[in-house]
Amino acid sequence: MTQQPLLVTCGLPYTNGPCHLGHLRTYVPADMYVRYMRRAGEEVLFVCGSDNHGTPIVVSAEEQGISPRALSERYHKHFDETFKRMGVMFDRFGMTDDPATHHRAQSIVAELEKKGYIYKQTVHQAYCTKCKRFLPDRYVEGICPHCGKPARGDECDQGCGKHLEPGEIKDPVCKVCGTKAEFRDQEHYFFKLSEFKDFLLPFLDQVRGTSNAKNYAIGWIKEELHDWCITRTLEWGVKFPGRDDLVVYVWVDAPIGYIAFTEEWARANGQDWKRYWCGENRVTHFIGGDIIYHHCIFWPALLKGAGYGVPHAIVASGMVKVDDHKFSKSRGYVVWTNDDYLDKGLPADYLRYYLLAYTSHTKELNFSWKVFSERINNEVVNIFGNFVYRTLYFAQKEFDGIPAGTVDPAIMDEIGKCLANVDQFMRDYEFKGAVDAIMALAAFGNTYIQTNAPWKLIKTDRAAAAQVILNCVQITKALALLIQPAMPDTAERCWKQLGYYDSVAAHPISDATRPVPEACIKPPTPLFVKMEETQVKELDALLQKRVAEANRKMEKTPAISIDDFAKVEMKTGKVLAAEAIPKSSKLLKLQVDVGGETRQIVSGIAQFYKPEELVGQNVIVLTNLAPAKIFGVESNGMILAAGDAASLLTPLKAVEPGTKIR
Ligand code: 2FM
Ligand code: ZN
Repeated sequence: MTQQPLLVTCGLPYTNGPCHLGHLRTYVPADMYVRYMRRAGEEVLFVCGSDNHGTPIVVSAEEQGISPRALSERYHKHFDETFKRMGVMFDRFGMTDDPATHHRAQSIVAELEKKGYIYKQTVHQAYCTKCKRFLPDRYVEGICPHCGKPARGDECDQGCGKHLEPGEIKDPVCKVCGTKAEFRDQEHYFFKLSEFKDFLLPFLDQVRGTSNAKNYAIGWIKEELHDWCITRTLEWGVKFPGRDDLVVYVWVDAPIGYIAFTEEWARANGQDWKRYWCGENRVTHFIGGDIIYHHCIFWPALLKGAGYGVPHAIVASGMVKVDDHKFSKSRGYVVWTNDDYLDKGLPADYLRYYLLAYTSHTKELNFSWKVFSERINNEVVNIFGNFVYRTLYFAQKEFDGIPAGTVDPAIMDEIGKCLANVDQFMRDYEFKGAVDAIMALAAFGNTYIQTNAPWKLIKTDRAAAAQVILNCVQITKALALLIQPAMPDTAERCWKQLGYYDSVAAHPISDATRPVPEACIKPPTPLFVKMEETQVKELDALLQKRVAEANRKMEKTPAISIDDFAKVEMKTGKVLAAEAIPKSSKLLKLQVDVGGETRQIVSGIAQFYKPEELVGQNVIVLTNLAPAKIFGVESNGMILAAGDAASLLTPLKAVEPGTKIR
């Protein structure tokens, strides 16, 4: 029986912002895996594409005054080009808004409906009375019902990370206009995810990939498995079959893009996409650690329900930090692939090496320019580059190239052991292990050449020196072949310096133990350039500047002393009366008992409270604020409220009006 072809996919980037280090943490190891498996003799297809639907794209497009399609095309091109610059070479990089994904998603949804896995239900959906529309997913922000942290409409991004269903978010506020949202009834379609528990547990038990993916997912399933609302009230997206007013949730059509991109590739290459997706398969998903739930639970259930083959492996990468801080675009802790790296003239292979070798694939990667430059200089330049250069320089200078002879069996053994180690690591998705094993062979070569000192030996025994150099050239050949999946450009240059005219990528990895033939070579040039301290400082300064700017933007309040705080007088108060201020949509005039005196206070909370709701409420009042006239009305104090929706602060236990806050 012929082995199934391997299909490798990468999580699809949203088309609402540029490529950064967080993306590359998944794509570079996936690319290394694909390159390696091909050269280990496997038939491999590598597909990806851009994720064009969903509210993040609609919100960004609205902010920029362009259509979601135009925004998607712009970033699609950006990702396509950037991945190529980084040496990440997909066979197909599609768009989920292209017809193939629309068709495949509609066909899968129709199939699920036919099989009874989809039902209709009325949900309370957040609605903005000011914008006059329902607020799906990222159009709404509020409080997570599970952990109480601020959350987006469809996920608790700052707290427990749970997926939120429409209507679950507490205290919803419209993201566009900041108005407190209300819940209104709306009819939606649900996928019966809860019916898939008996399928999912054994599926996860046997699925290959990294343990973080399956362990998290098994934990979630044991906890609870809710049905998923799979429709949204949006114009932009894949229409739910038979409903012009609804599109499918982006997490339905995005993974279906994996199938659609395979179809697009198959059509262009006269192949059959069903080989990859129907029945037994070897679909391997590389994803970020934040989308495990979608790929390990939701997606396999969708595939199973619709009668497709289920994933063979799920490989989830660990998180990325920058300078020990959580990766954050808004806080400036980000490294942009083009602006901060490639456009500065830095080689793609350095970053590829760092991403692969920094730590195990599932662990946290903490980026800093200092550590980056140290690892490049100490490992790539000093170990790998130095060994290759010394070997080829000496070979060319003394022997005009590669001397004739037979490589020592001990050297071939060492290479053979390295090959076996790398192979095991790659099949276990241990990319760091593989790269470390290759570097260990380079380090072995360095020690070998240093100990045998052919530059001394040649003065007394030319044949013995030739043997040492032949051994070193064989190691160099093995290094070029082995490092190619991780550092493809470096490997090609090394290969050419060994005197080959073809591409190293055309050779199986196992050629590492095929003897190098006698040959003339040209004087070599160093494979790498050391990173200079001044350059590293400049790169770091740019990052620090961005963080400082982000801080300023976030209007970080400067620290104050306790004496400064003591100048602030706050007391509890009770609202005695409240009325609207004519011609103002935002202001209310309040009479507040602050203990022994009644203060008139003008407050900008009319959008969030009706006057009658406030009467009798206990509030907190800033009592020593200088009096002012607001909208022509005298105001003597300030009522304290939290957040954009002006949630009023109130004492937890009953206290008399006028009680001091300390
Ligand atoms: O989280 C994200 O960035 C999504 N765009 C990933 C989608 S992966 C797949 F399922 F399509
Ligand atoms: Zn939460």
